[in-house]
Amino acid sequence: MLRTALTDMFGIEHPIVLAPMGGVSGGRLAAAVSNAGGLGLVGGGYGDSGWLSRELSLVKSQTSHPWGVGLITWSADASIVDLALGYRPYAVMLSFGDPRPYGSIVKAAGCHLICQVQDVAGARLALEAGADVIVAQGTEAGGHGAGRSTLALVPAVVDAVTPTTVLAAGGIADGRGLAAALMLGAQGALIGTRFYASKEALGHPQAKRMIVDARGEDTCRTTVFDVVRKLAWPQPYDGRALRNGFVERWRGREEELAAQVDTQYHVYASAVQAADHDVAVVWAGEGVDLINGIEPAGDIVQRMATEATDRLRWGGRLA
Ligand SMILES: Cc1cc2nc3c(=O)[nH]c(=O)nc-3n(C[C@H](O)[C@H](O)[C@H](O)COP(=O)(O)O)c2cc1C
Repeated sequence: MLRTALTDMFGIEHPIVLAPMGGVSGGRLAAAVSNAGGLGLVGGGYGDSGWLSRELSLVKSQTSHPWGVGLITWSADASIVDLALGYRPYAVMLSFGDPRPYGSIVKAAGCHLICQVQDVAGARLALEAGADVIVAQGTEAGGHGAGRSTLALVPAVVDAVTPTTVLAAGGIADGRGLAAALMLGAQGALIGTRFYASKEALGHPQAKRMIVDARGEDTCRTTVFDVVRKLAWPQPYDGRALRNGFVERWRGREEELAAQVDTQYHVYASAVQAADHDVAVVWAGEGVDLINGIEPAGDIVQRMATEATDRLRWGGRLA
C-alpha cells in the first residue's frame, strides 16, 4: 500500500487521481476510479450546467467514496462553481487561469481545493488561492497545458510549495510513472490519457482505439482545435492531441484558419457529429505508448498501484 499525504488527506487507498477530462471523465468513470481506491474527478470542462448536473448526480449515486469535480478556471463563473459545490464534492480542481477568485468560495464550502499549474509562478498563485493540493502538469500531458517537462517541473514545484501536497501529471500511464512521480517528491499522480482508454470513459470507441494504436510521436501540441471551435484560450496554453488530417492541414497556418473560421467552424462541428476523427480532436498525451487496451478503470488503478509498489521495493534493493 502506498500511503502518502494525498491518501491521508482524502482517506483513499491509492495515490492515483483521475484527471477531470472534459467530456470524457463522466460520473461513471469518476465513480469507478473512486470505488477502486483512487480519487475520481468529473471533468466539468467549459461548464455546461446540464451535463455537469447529470454527471455529478451519477457519480454521487455510484460511489460512497471521495470524489471531486474539475473546472476550467478562465471559462468558469461563480454560478458554475456554486452548482458544482451544491453536489458536495470532496474536492474541486481548478485548471488554467488564476484560481484566486474562487479559492475562498471552494474552501468556505468545506471542500478541498486542487489547482493544476504549469510552472512555478502558477504554483505560487495556487498557494495564494489556498490550494490544498497542487498538480504540476508537464507538457507531455494530453489536453491543454504548456511547455515545461514533467521530470524537471515536479521537483521544482515541490521545492517551491513544501509542505503543500503536490501531484505529478503528464505522461504517467503505468506504475513505473507513478513510482517515478513519488521519487520526484510528489504525493501521487493525476492521470488522464490512460483512463480515456477505459471502458467507463465517455468518448467515442474509435477515439479510444486510436489512443491504443498511437505512439507518443503521433501526438503534438497545437492551438488549431481551439481556433476552429472559437474558444478564447489565453496564453500560454495550447493542447496535446493525436495528429490527424486537420492538424496536418492547419498547424502553422493558424491565422489563415482564423480568417475563415466561420466556414471551418461548421465543417468541424459536422465532423464531430459524424465522429470523423481525421478532423475532430482526440486529446491525448505522450504516454500513449504505454496503453495497450481498453480496460475497466478499476483494473487500471489496481495494476498501477501494484506495479508502483513493486518498483519502489525493487528500487530500494539496489546496491
Ligand atoms: C481527453 C483529455 C481532456 C482533458 N480535459 C481537461 C479539462 O477539461 N480540464 C483539465 O483541467 N484538464 C484536462 N485535461 C488535462 C488533464 O487534467 C491532465 O493534466 C492530463 O491528462 C495529464 O496527462 P496525461 O494525459 O498524460 O495523463 C485533459 C486531458 C485529456 C487527455
